[in-house]
Amino acid sequence: MTHPISHPGAITPEALHSRLHTRVLAQSVEFYESINSTNRRAMELVDAGAPDGTLILAEHQTHGRGRLARTWHAPPHTSLLFSLILRPPLAPHQAQRATMLCAVAAVEAIAETTGLAAGIKWPNDIVIAGKKLGGILTELQAHGQQLAAIVVGIGLNVNLDAAQLPPLITPATSLAAELGHSVERLQLLVAFLERADALYDRMLAGWSPFALWRQRLVTLGQPVRIATDEGLLEGTATDVDENGALLVTTASGRVQHVLVGDVTGRAAPPTETP
Ligand code: BTN
Repeated sequence: MTHPISHPGAITPEALHSRLHTRVLAQSVEFYESINSTNRRAMELVDAGAPDGTLILAEHQTHGRGRLARTWHAPPHTSLLFSLILRPPLAPHQAQRATMLCAVAAVEAIAETTGLAAGIKWPNDIVIAGKKLGGILTELQAHGQQLAAIVVGIGLNVNLDAAQLPPLITPATSLAAELGHSVERLQLLVAFLERADALYDRMLAGWSPFALWRQRLVTLGQPVRIATDEGLLEGTATDVDENGALLVTTASGRVQHVLVGDVTGRAAPPTETP
């Protein structure tokens, strides 16, 4: 673990600690100038018994992990790259609630810090105007029907300029690219952690973030195309269920529940004109 002091706008654990008022999240923090992957480190810490709310934060990852076995790239000191270890009393099938909670907190923190109205693209991409600002990778540690821990890893493109944006299936953007100026990453991180902490408090008392997550989904009502294990599924994203599955209604009226996948848009069917 190294503590940088020379980068303007760098995030340090001391600065984070002095600004943060949370009850559970980030009471324990590991900070890395560079690490393979904060999710990978978090999974190691789960095994070592790290407490609920542990935050692993890095300025750079050499092997950042994305969903569906992809990689996540971000130039050093440009992004927010972190993982949270959560140990809520949930069954494994309810674990998506932790991801939903973090997606909602990210959208709310972005609005509070920058005024930008981001949304959530199913399952948990943070998007603005159809472009990807960030992603979430959730990994579980379960023993049978007992959930030991959830690791929620979040990458947010904050101060990348247009030339630094990665080529993704969904076109990428950053907060700075949208605003035309850079954003104080620590302020955004503090806003995220405080929002997430307040929601987590409610979740520990039995509340589900499902309704808030559903409200912020930009995918509902859209024509979608999804690569699934059974082949290409095309239809309209009509709803989501409590466990995070996307409900896709096909042209024949059949409703299919999709739990894992990537949504790409497709042209809307032609509307009939009188
Ligand atoms: C996605 O594919 O959209 C999810 C990307 C998640 C990236 C973050 S960056 C911090 C954390 N550590 C990782 O290795 N991955 C997640």
